[in-house]
Amino acid sequence: MSSFPDRIGPILYFRAAEADALRVAALVVRPEGETPGEMLAGGMGVAPLPLAACEGRQLWRYDLTLPQDAPHYSFEGRERRVQVELSGDLRIAFVSCNGEEHGDLGRDAEERNAMWQRLLGQHRDSPFGLMLMGGDQIYADEATDGHPLSDDWPDDIPESPTPAQLADLERHLRARFFERYLSTFSAPGFSEVSAEVPALCVWDDHDICDGWGSLHRDATRSAVGQLLFRVARETYLLFQHAAREEDVPQLFLDPEGRSLSWRHELPGLTLFGPDLRSERGRRQVMGAPGWQGVTQIEGGPHTFLVSSVPLLGPRLSLIEGLMMAIPKMQKYEDDLRDQWQSRAHRDEWRRMLSEVLRMRRAGPVTVLSGEIHLATRAEMGAGEHLIHQLVASGISHRAPPRAYALGLGTLAGLGEAPLPEHPIRIRPLPGQSTRYAAERNYLRLERRSGQWRAIWELEDSGPTPAMAL
Ligand SMILES: [Fe+2]
Repeated sequence: MSSFPDRIGPILYFRAAEADALRVAALVVRPEGETPGEMLAGGMGVAPLPLAACEGRQLWRYDLTLPQDAPHYSFEGRERRVQVELSGDLRIAFVSCNGEEHGDLGRDAEERNAMWQRLLGQHRDSPFGLMLMGGDQIYADEATDGHPLSDDWPDDIPESPTPAQLADLERHLRARFFERYLSTFSAPGFSEVSAEVPALCVWDDHDICDGWGSLHRDATRSAVGQLLFRVARETYLLFQHAAREEDVPQLFLDPEGRSLSWRHELPGLTLFGPDLRSERGRRQVMGAPGWQGVTQIEGGPHTFLVSSVPLLGPRLSLIEGLMMAIPKMQKYEDDLRDQWQSRAHRDEWRRMLSEVLRMRRAGPVTVLSGEIHLATRAEMGAGEHLIHQLVASGISHRAPPRAYALGLGTLAGLGEAPLPEHPIRIRPLPGQSTRYAAERNYLRLERRSGQWRAIWELEDSGPTPAMAL
């Protein structure tokens, strides 16, 4: 592990917008045995809290309250400005898919982080107040490699490993997850942006492993599978929320942490991030705790709902049926099972869409999604019931071939209406002629004089014309 960074951060995480201050958590990693340097916020020194350690790296958290009349902090002598006043004009970045399944840690840094550098440049021109991270913040797929218990995950899993073997696997997995986070979160571009723009994160499958929850139960429920989830969850809390288990009741809607959905209120804006992974199974997207969280969201002047997998999508059930009939296509059937549109999730999909329509009565709802490594948008309903979905993915994951995007666009032309009277339409981005843009991308959400607009930043084509929300 010695080749991985042993000092990263500060990385900021949004905690709460208060009347005259912003509360954030700052995550810092230093070599074990070294106390991090001085942190000053609001004119006072802030002491760090030790969070966890692994392979000689110690994680620390600072709980910062940044007052509106002093919107900055200073760490180890370097002052950083943070946007504290969030009631007026506001810029929010939405990113997803920050990595790739194979060999991500060995990629050329300049190529890998090009879109992060673009985001950093835009932040320097006109600061972002918040960064929403919509899933696959790391690609942990390779974490299971290199250990006899998990080398053949998820196809071949030992039936009754001994406690000693499992303890050894836990050490292995924890070290691999730490490596991924330390490497990914110290990348050029990301590290500068995240020191000044507080993040809110939801996880998707690759933050655990490819297809988590949609894999067969023999894998998910095995001792190895449960251990993998436990390590992924611990490191997700640590690195994506600067949190430990005891912080869960303060940060998430379910105090017991069975679902890690969250909700935050900003002036004029509700943010809702349902957890679509913790409770996922072959036949369910969320369990009772997850649904309990959804029903608590009332909406407001505007709601951004982060759905790690797109909520509005083309009809896939025909293809899924076909794939289930062909054994060789099983892997793709698992991929489809991971989507809201899967036949196995049809009732839950309708339920979620109905809940979104309920929130829509209080004001506009914009669904933000990633996951597909393409940029696109969709609409459901019309007039006072219109729901926009904006898909931006990925910021460092490379796009699939254009032919794939064109094929998907043709399929999307079939249309879908899981709720009667509310057809879903997949639309091209503003200024684009095809439904799916096969370029790396992220999204800028901007509120100007109370009106929200969206701009996709496409790697080759540049920014799209702004779309009013
Ligand atoms: Fe992804």
